[in-house]
Amino acid sequence: MSEHSPIPYSPTSFSQGRMDFTWEELTDAERAQAYADWEAGKGLIGGDPHRRPGSHLLPPWGIDRPFFRALALDDERGWNGAALRALLASHRPLEIEIGFGRGDFLLDRAQRHPHRLFIGYETKTKATRLMLARIEQLAQGRRAGDGQAERAGRDVALHPSPLAAHPSLWISDDDARFGLPRAIGDGRVAIFHVLFPDPWWKNEHRVKRLFSPPFVDLLAAKVCPGGMLHFKSDVQEYGELVRYLVENHPAFAAHDPALAASIGESVPTHREHWCRRHGKPVWAYYFARR
Ligand SMILES: C[S@@+](CC[C@H](N)C(=O)[O-])C[C@H]1O[C@@H](n2cnc3c(N)ncnc32)[C@H](O)[C@@H]1O
Repeated sequence: MSEHSPIPYSPTSFSQGRMDFTWEELTDAERAQAYADWEAGKGLIGGDPHRRPGSHLLPPWGIDRPFFRALALDDERGWNGAALRALLASHRPLEIEIGFGRGDFLLDRAQRHPHRLFIGYETKTKATRLMLARIEQLAQGRRAGDGQAERAGRDVALHPSPLAAHPSLWISDDDARFGLPRAIGDGRVAIFHVLFPDPWWKNEHRVKRLFSPPFVDLLAAKVCPGGMLHFKSDVQEYGELVRYLVENHPAFAAHDPALAASIGESVPTHREHWCRRHGKPVWAYYFARR
């Protein structure tokens, strides 16, 4: 493990949320409907990016930073697209987190494994911008809060970060279901981390839920043989739905708790930290790609 700076936590604002998640095995009609919805782009967070004005351009705040949008990879006002493509063309193992939220897990992981590549998807643009700032702070060898000390005229200890050498951690505010097929090659991903995704309790919101048969097909296409899906939730029944969907896919082996060792040490996500503080159980699943 490489030396890295600890990432401090601030108080959380999570509430318990509903826990009465129920699901049933899909009928053929429901499965067909899930594929039809996927094809039609239904349920994408923020709607279909093709319909957004200027969707082929990076936002000004994202230019020349480790940020991308699938539809703006050819925007030549910045080095973003070319740099990301060059990194993806390398043989460095790639890990992708979907829904990184505050980004604690991903930042920590990128610091521990400087020879791997990391990509994070998070549809909340504000959270993505905050994460960009955190990535750049770390790359400059600082920790959050150091700037304050600097302004106060105090000595600031610099913490050289492995992120300083290469921008090995990139982020996007695309809906991962839209971005992954367009930006990431088949078989390129070593590990997907999907940690505490929104359960979307209501029936009418189900189409926004990440896990569905076409989403599992997408994961199967992107993960390399021997790669893995790492999933966690504090909603036990959502975990069981994911297990049902993934284990029914021929590309994935059954959940194997022993695979936790291949993830190794990591810091908890923001939600997991909240669960620990409040004594709430967490369910973790590890599925190897055959
Ligand atoms: C419940 S939060 C958990 C955040 C973080 N993983 C944690 O454990 O603290 C789920 C996050 O996933 C993001 N999200 C939901 N659907 C997404 C999608 N299709 N693509 C990318 N991010 C998504 C949400 O914006 C939200 O920040």
